[in-house]
Amino acid sequence: MNRDDRGLVLEADKLCLKFGAVEPLKDLSLAVTERQIHSVIGPNGAGKSSLLNCLSGFYHPFSGSVRFLGEDISAMPPYKRAAAGIARTFQGIQTYPSMTARENILSGFHCRMKGAVFSALFRPPWAVRQEEEFCAKAERIVEFLELEEIRNRIVGDLSYGLRKRVDLGRALALEPRLLIMDEPMAGMSPEEKGDLARFILDIRDHFHIPIILVEHDMEVVMDISDAITVIEFGRVIAHGRPEEIRVNPAVIAAYLGGEAA
Ligand SMILES: Nc1ncnc2c1ncn2[C@@H]1O[C@H](COP(=O)(O)OP(=O)(O)O)[C@@H](O)[C@H]1O
Ligand SMILES: [Mg+2]
Repeated sequence: MNRDDRGLVLEADKLCLKFGAVEPLKDLSLAVTERQIHSVIGPNGAGKSSLLNCLSGFYHPFSGSVRFLGEDISAMPPYKRAAAGIARTFQGIQTYPSMTARENILSGFHCRMKGAVFSALFRPPWAVRQEEEFCAKAERIVEFLELEEIRNRIVGDLSYGLRKRVDLGRALALEPRLLIMDEPMAGMSPEEKGDLARFILDIRDHFHIPIILVEHDMEVVMDISDAITVIEFGRVIAHGRPEEIRVNPAVIAAYLGGEAA
């Protein structure tokens, strides 16, 4: 794996984002290192989703740069960033409701697939092998996320928590080198949150990749994060380990002054 000496996987440098008079990000920098659960927190409207959109390429900052595994990816479109290994789960539900859990996970391999139309028409031996390999990998993801019992169920019939877990499986099928999650626990029961927190820790430990997590549930954030960056009005107001963030006066003021997020 291509990394720089400090173990940096992703580095956003002085991002400025503007939509007319609105400036969701102002000189915002973020550094994510190997095997790190890095949470980004802040009040509603602070710029968290905008930041994630700049990292995955959906928004283009007015100035600043994004480096991934040592390469400047600032000009790369989202699909190329995905192919380079930046996987993402979105706010809300992004699964295909009429497909099964297993098929949804298989859909994640699509950007790793070679010659899709050719191989579907002519079925050369290498394409059959590729398909078998993807099926075996999908099966490993099903087992990892404990989805065995629902692998052949239609996703539209599943609970919210399970659908989010299937979406996570789809993101893992990309064989990511960085996973970005935007409020994955919103709308989940405490039990579902506990399960997902455990899977996030397992992803760090088994897949050895960092995770950027935007999450409102502070208990979960404090529990599982290795590092926390706090943003307010598009700027970083604090960065540190959970125990440092908990007692940081600027963070306490931001949360007491605004709405509890
Ligand atoms: N596409 C957009 N066009 C205009 N304004 C936007 C757009 N995306 C985000 N914003 C604005 O940027 C600010 C930060 O939003 P967002 O990044 O969604 O915050 P958060 O995820 O922290 O709640 C808000 O004022 C929002 O209205
Ligand atoms: Mg948001």
